[in-house]
Amino acid sequence: MRGIVVEPCWPHTTLDGMEFRRIGHGVVDSTNERALAQITEGLAQHGDVHVAVGQTLGRGRRGREWISDAGQGLYMSVVLLPQSAIQPAALTVAAGLALLDLARDVGVVDARLKWPNDLVVGQAKLAGILVETRGLQLDRPHYVIGIGLNVLQESFPDELLAERDVTSLLQLSCVRPLEDVERLLLTVLAERLAQVESAPQQLEQDYPRAARLDGQGICVETAEGAYRGVLEGFDFEHGLTLRTADGQHQVLLEHAHQVHVDSQG
Ligand code: BTN
Repeated sequence: MRGIVVEPCWPHTTLDGMEFRRIGHGVVDSTNERALAQITEGLAQHGDVHVAVGQTLGRGRRGREWISDAGQGLYMSVVLLPQSAIQPAALTVAAGLALLDLARDVGVVDARLKWPNDLVVGQAKLAGILVETRGLQLDRPHYVIGIGLNVLQESFPDELLAERDVTSLLQLSCVRPLEDVERLLLTVLAERLAQVESAPQQLEQDYPRAARLDGQGICVETAEGAYRGVLEGFDFEHGLTLRTADGQHQVLLEHAHQVHVDSQG
């Protein structure tokens, strides 16, 4: 616990009636790593929020690096220790919708979600989510929701831009201090995480619209190949329900690697 600051979160945002506990770090390897380490050591509490000034080994999905220059972005990991297991996809969806709520609250109205874990404006990535567990025991489940949000970056390294388009709130003409963005995000995140238990239908209803997929001809890429059809349903139990040329087809969310509007449709 040396070199870190533990304090209640302002404005006392609660999660399932429990207060978030803010664990502030300087520059660390990765807030997800710090959160998982505390869980392993038995020191974690439900609702812990690890926030770092910067990360040297910030990680994204599929082993990618999350560039985390000090003081430029929000690097946050939330610990959940629920009573029973949760589908990780539900957490990714809840965190994604919270990021979209935040983007709209700060005036970035054309942001949308991109399956599975991106917040984008046009094709440019503004934020990403990485939900992790380590040695999950179903009788004592734990989850870490890692969120990286580009806030104050004026530019990004050429190597990153060569891979994909990226943006920040600042580049989108939204100038907000990191502390404000953190507080706003925790407020909407608490609401969306509560819906995982209390109103999953709300998340299921909001996601297709947030990703601009509802009623559209879409393409779902899986390890077995791509499925094309009109999206007829989205829920955590059955996944994506498509009306394809051959009838109805369902793809479980954990099998959907990419989902996008079908350019051939
Ligand atoms: C992605 O888009 O691939 C997910 C990016 C997640 C980055 C965040 S930054 C805070 C937390 N700590 C990490 O090492 N990763 C996540």
